Amino acid sequence: MAENIRRTLTDSPQRWLSPKWFYDDLGSVLFDAITRVPEYYPTARERAILLARADEIVVASGADTLVELGSGTSDKTRLLLDAFTARGQLRRFCPLDVSATTLATAAEAIGAEHPGLDVQPVVGDFLHDLHRIPTGGRRLVVFLGGTIGNLTPDEQARFLRRVADALVPGDSLLLGTDLVKDTARLLTAYDDPVGVTAAFNRNILAVLNRELGADFDLRAWRHEARWDAAGERIEMHLVAREAQSVRIPGARLDLKLDEGESIQTEISSKFRIERLPSLLGPAGFSVDSVWCDPDGDVALTLATRTG
Ligand code: SAH
Ligand code: TRP
Repeated sequence: MAENIRRTLTDSPQRWLSPKWFYDDLGSVLFDAITRVPEYYPTARERAILLARADEIVVASGADTLVELGSGTSDKTRLLLDAFTARGQLRRFCPLDVSATTLATAAEAIGAEHPGLDVQPVVGDFLHDLHRIPTGGRRLVVFLGGTIGNLTPDEQARFLRRVADALVPGDSLLLGTDLVKDTARLLTAYDDPVGVTAAFNRNILAVLNRELGADFDLRAWRHEARWDAAGERIEMHLVAREAQSVRIPGARLDLKLDEGESIQTEISSKFRIERLPSLLGPAGFSVDSVWCDPDGDVALTLATRTG
């Protein structure tokens, strides 16, 4: 962590932080709160598609093993688990997440809800730990919540290639993506009026204070969501309200920041339906189905690992 923070906070021209540091126990709770904010439409939209298509997905995948990357609370995934259970088709469930507490809580609850299901939680990084997902049987990997959009285009391609490499022909991938839409709606989704997203964003500084002994004054930072029209993505920043010095002893780092200077903490890429095959194809997947909610806000894509 220290090395990573040292490198990204001194990057030029834009200082940044890896979003995986958001998700300590409080960060995971704040993210869960974001999914209940009315302005944050993606969770409800994706849930609606899953509700309508869960059985179809279960049958088409033919899977006996469900792997979920960046699983969090696995809340929406319960719709798939229920559909699998109704058909008596599922043997194993492997949720993978960096947030150990959230993962353990979710895995325990799901184990209790589905007696006989072999629940194998993995605390890990989906960019580096795909070799730790279970092998054998017929697998369905799910990656929901538009989390792929939190990767840069290069990382997206590399990540999908690695997922394909971890699978065998006939295994499948269910991918959730947020779609390009009206900019004002996008900006409000990432800067809600209650300030839940702002609190989530600022919490990353609290993580650095605790883990690296940093002395960030959280009140001196303002949350900002920006739309990058060229990259078709939301950027989240923390903007310094005033010039300040910050000491981060755990990373052997002293920072001097100007008023208005920002640290980028997240990107959230928005996709276009017609481009999904060219995202998945080069990685080794063929698209079987693309489902949208009635408003065309988000898409769920089911794809098969090709041989
Ligand atoms: N899948 C859930 C949660 C999405 S939020 C949903 O659709 O609502 C993103 C989740 O990914 C969080 O639970 C976070 O802890 C996890 N995460 C973020 N970066 C990660 C990484 N590099 N490796 C593994 N998990 C990660
Ligand atoms: N992947 C989701 C998205 O980009 C969830 C998410 C990740 C998020 N980081 C976030 C949502 C920060 C709000 C703020 O929408």
